[in-house]
Amino acid sequence: MDILVVGGGGREHAIIRKLKESPRCGALHCAPGNGGIACDAQCHDVAATDIEGMVALARQLRVGLVFVAPDDPLVAGMVDALEAAGIPAFGPRKNAAILEGSKVFSKHLMRQYGIPTAEYEVFDQPEKALACIKAKNRYPAVIKADGLALGKGVLLCDNYEEACQAVKSLMEDKVFGASGSRVVVEEFLTGPEVSVLAFTDGRTVKPMVSSQDHKRAFDGNAGPNTGGMGTVSPNPFYGEREAAWCMQHIFQPTVDAMAKEGRPFQGCLYFGLMLTPEGPRVIEYNCRFGDPETQVVLPRLKTDLLDILEAIREERLDRQPVEWRDEACACVVMASGGYPGAYQKGLPIEGLDDGGQTGRDGITVFHAGTQKEEGRFLTSGGRVLGVTATAATLEKALDAAYDAVGDIRFENAHYRRDIGRAE
Ligand code: AMP
Ligand code: GLY
Repeated sequence: MDILVVGGGGREHAIIRKLKESPRCGALHCAPGNGGIACDAQCHDVAATDIEGMVALARQLRVGLVFVAPDDPLVAGMVDALEAAGIPAFGPRKNAAILEGSKVFSKHLMRQYGIPTAEYEVFDQPEKALACIKAKNRYPAVIKADGLALGKGVLLCDNYEEACQAVKSLMEDKVFGASGSRVVVEEFLTGPEVSVLAFTDGRTVKPMVSSQDHKRAFDGNAGPNTGGMGTVSPNPFYGEREAAWCMQHIFQPTVDAMAKEGRPFQGCLYFGLMLTPEGPRVIEYNCRFGDPETQVVLPRLKTDLLDILEAIREERLDRQPVEWRDEACACVVMASGGYPGAYQKGLPIEGLDDGGQTGRDGITVFHAGTQKEEGRFLTSGGRVLGVTATAATLEKALDAAYDAVGDIRFENAHYRRDIGRAE
């Protein structure tokens, strides 16, 4: 089966690498892809958000499946458009992707179905949001834009002045456009965060092995939020007891609630959880594989990914085995200096072979923001590489990943030195 993967980051590279292992996988295509992905798949210059362009490309390539990986095309209805054109697609339809596309929708769903999450209120007028924050007088105040905001739509405010600034930038200056027309003001929770990605066909849900992201830019969880600076799997805070509890109180109830609402969710459902002293709570849902969670989760998958994708599309996930390797995986993101703010592009990367790898055993370099020019890899994004190691234990995987990071150089490269070791 020929497959087209939509997207062009480290997550898409990890998906492509895993699909490539399948004996039934034919030609692999990616749009738009990147310099490293081009070593594993044929890349096409169509933007991930270009729905018409993607339908035309899939038709022209006559692929048997389109895997839509990023949030914005899913929320905008790319899967619906592909299906309408008779092209099989993996990912939730628009009416289910709203679980990530609207925080107001997801909070209301959780409240209605008793799924544990932070207490909240919704506002569409800045004065009312601020009046609520002032009356509560509890800080940090958590203010969230309703819609997609490049992962930057959550603002934690330490005092009333900061809250005023946050509300103004979201609702009046509209820094994230219409995404900030409504905001959610919610209770501040504490505890370790856990990412659980889950396969679901709309009825059955099969959680993948857990992972831990490191969202802040700097060591010790300091600095601004990023798309994710590194991940480990399994998550050291999440054991069998937590997994069983979450299955009963969060995972299955969410899938059932969406089905009941007439919005069956088919694809990968991402549960962003916080293990609070009162028990696990949902911080957010994403309608897709996480980035860089995928880079440490999929390498541990023993079962043929293509078999799982087909079982989901045919709604027989209950009969499809999903097996994992009992090993650990660590991914250290090498980012451009300045990320998540402004950064330089086009800097040459040293230490990679022609296939974009280091040549070390047990190490895979997933490319997030690279391009290849005249045989050389250059930086082309904020997150550049995800240097990933698989080993028997997390300690060994982390040591191996950091050794490999030491092989790679580009000007102003920035990476966290405490992945898997921060609290
Ligand atoms: P999100 O984009 O919803 O994942 O939020 C980004 C980050 O903000 C999360 O990973 C948490 O670290 C933090 N966060 C979100 N909601 C809350 C909350 N209610 N209490 C504490 N921290 C939160
Ligand atoms: N790593 C967080 C996300 O994919 O949203």
